[in-house]
Amino acid sequence: MGAGDGDKTHRSEVSMAAESPTPGAQRVLEEGRVGNYHSYYGKRRKLMAVFQAQNAQATAASGADEGDGDENTSTGHSSSSTAPGSALYSDERLDLLKEEWVRGKRVLDLGCNDGTFVYDLVARFQPRSVLGVDIDRALIDDAKKRRKNMRRRWRQNSGRTGEAKSSTDPLLCVHFCCEDIISPDAKWAQHAGAYDLVLLMSVTKWIHLHHGDAGIKQVFKNVANVLAPRGVFVLEYQRWSTYRRKANLSTEVHQNYKSIRLRPEVFDTYLEHECGLKPGPPIRPRGVTGQPYNRPMLSFRKGPV
Ligand SMILES: C[S@@+](CC[C@H](N)C(=O)[O-])C[C@H]1O[C@@H](n2cnc3c(N)ncnc32)[C@H](O)[C@@H]1O
Repeated sequence: MGAGDGDKTHRSEVSMAAESPTPGAQRVLEEGRVGNYHSYYGKRRKLMAVFQAQNAQATAASGADEGDGDENTSTGHSSSSTAPGSALYSDERLDLLKEEWVRGKRVLDLGCNDGTFVYDLVARFQPRSVLGVDIDRALIDDAKKRRKNMRRRWRQNSGRTGEAKSSTDPLLCVHFCCEDIISPDAKWAQHAGAYDLVLLMSVTKWIHLHHGDAGIKQVFKNVANVLAPRGVFVLEYQRWSTYRRKANLSTEVHQNYKSIRLRPEVFDTYLEHECGLKPGPPIRPRGVTGQPYNRPMLSFRKGPV
């Protein structure tokens, strides 16, 4: 995957985007208005834990051999090795990403919430850099606070084990930036070809409802532009059937909802024909029946093909 820029250039671009004033960023944003849930990952973990416990019970009741060493989840992928509910339990979507998309790569996570997925990603795959962007200032402040605490702990631990001199702080490459990803002067969108992997997960419904087709198209075009040649775009979208529940958030949202023509189920066609992104095999086309947050996940690659 092409990584044209030198390390220094990229790091300064990433930190500039992270530290400078932030277009469209919201200091105080009513919780949930744009999917900015403040205990999003806690809730995800609880619901996944319940789902997995029920699955395990059903498997035991059906008399499956427990000692066969097969750790695959019902998604067909190897699951996080740690039990849900434990402090180390990590997001099940990590199992669906290919290591080669992330390890040593420059990653952009749009709508990163409080950075939990970013930190899981860093722990699992050690990317070269990650920039997480979110509109909610409080969530980004949380993400940055955790980074500070984790780096302090890392320095203490590595000092004790004598590791500090020989290894690089893994969190040096992690940055967060508060901005509205749809703002015309959003900084993340200014650096053509700067990212090897862009994640847009569970964000499209909020962009679509608040900014209509024009907004979602703009985000897709910008994503295609910031991807490096052969870069990968991972899209997890909310189905159209889930939009109705949020369509009455405001008069404007209702009007947007009514005017939407580009349904999520045809995002893939739009990305291929209008943004030049080649669809890869779907990561999670339909998902698992009964699984919480069971949203389709797709991957695309930027040419040259
Ligand atoms: C449902 S959460 C998903 C979080 C994360 N991407 C994941 O899948 O684990 C949606 C996130 O998108 C953010 N978001 C919504 N609209 C946004 C916008 N216009 N600009 C930046 N972030 C936005 C919200 O603040 C929220 O944190």
